Amino acid sequence: MPLALVAKGSLNQLRTISCKFTAPRIYPAIHPVPLSISTTSRMAPRAPWRDILASHLEKAPAHDFSIATVDYDAQGRAVPRVRTCGCRGFFPELELHPKGQQDIDEQVEDGGNPPLYESDMLTFTTDIRMEKLWQLKKSGFDPPIEAMFWLKDSMAQWRVKGRAYALGGPPSALWSPQEEADEELSRRELAQNLRRKTNGSGDPAKWTWDKAVTKYFANHSPIMRGSFRSPRPGQPRSEAPENPAIGMGQKVTDLHDPVARKNFRVVVIEPEEVELLDLTNLEDAKRWKWTLAREDRPENHWVQTELWP
Ligand SMILES: Cc1cc2nc3c(=O)[nH]c(=O)nc-3n(C[C@H](O)[C@H](O)[C@H](O)COP(=O)(O)O)c2cc1C
Repeated sequence: MPLALVAKGSLNQLRTISCKFTAPRIYPAIHPVPLSISTTSRMAPRAPWRDILASHLEKAPAHDFSIATVDYDAQGRAVPRVRTCGCRGFFPELELHPKGQQDIDEQVEDGGNPPLYESDMLTFTTDIRMEKLWQLKKSGFDPPIEAMFWLKDSMAQWRVKGRAYALGGPPSALWSPQEEADEELSRRELAQNLRRKTNGSGDPAKWTWDKAVTKYFANHSPIMRGSFRSPRPGQPRSEAPENPAIGMGQKVTDLHDPVARKNFRVVVIEPEEVELLDLTNLEDAKRWKWTLAREDRPENHWVQTELWP
């Protein structure tokens, strides 16, 4: 499975993790999986829709989107599930708020990754204990996902259909072999879609996946980081957690907090079909579709079609 998902049995393991509230530590990169970007044959040039979506997001007061996955009912029938998530931009670029940047500077080797790579892949963060990651895992290889924005300031609806891959990070020393295999598959898949930025700088040897994920964790406020130490989402409130490290309302300043980081995931959406419905002019609404073509050329490329709305 390409998702870095925790095995059900490892919940017990989670309960046994001893939790130390020590001063923030600087961690070295633990699992640098080679990026192999130069050897990839699939990397598409910058997507034609990317800058349009980015400009619409810039105008929007909030970046929440609806995330749809597929679940299965007791009869084994596919059923849709949808929920709101906060879009965190295109992987791996993320502009941190000043406090998050300070935390990265103080706690991460070299102050984080050099700004070398960009992609057309959208991101959100989540808790591995939530349903959506189980649903993606149950969907098998190349798990399907659709993300949808209604960006009213641009009168634009965006639908991004693709595959989703979850990234974890430290404390990788605590991963099971299955989790480690899942993580490596996610990294290998996503690496094929990273491009060198034209104005990128820095030493590629200093770029690691752990640092990339830690940056997304740093982008959360201490109380939001603490939500990854809260009782299991979706469980009845009458069921109190046994692990004393688990509880509501905790503030996490350590970017490598082992309990929170065990649950924290960045979900990266590899887009395959993108659709824009532009309602700026209701008398002549516009609808565009971009499809990623994989077959007819050595490298991926986007095919653009204008549709009747
Ligand atoms: C404005 C808003 C933003 C949210 N952002 C996220 C998010 O970024 N990630 C996330 O996992 N859940 C987020 N949620 C909560 C989800 O909508 C959902 O309740 C939760 O993820 C559990 O869903 P699941 O059990 O289907 O996985 C957000 C909810 C709201 C209302």
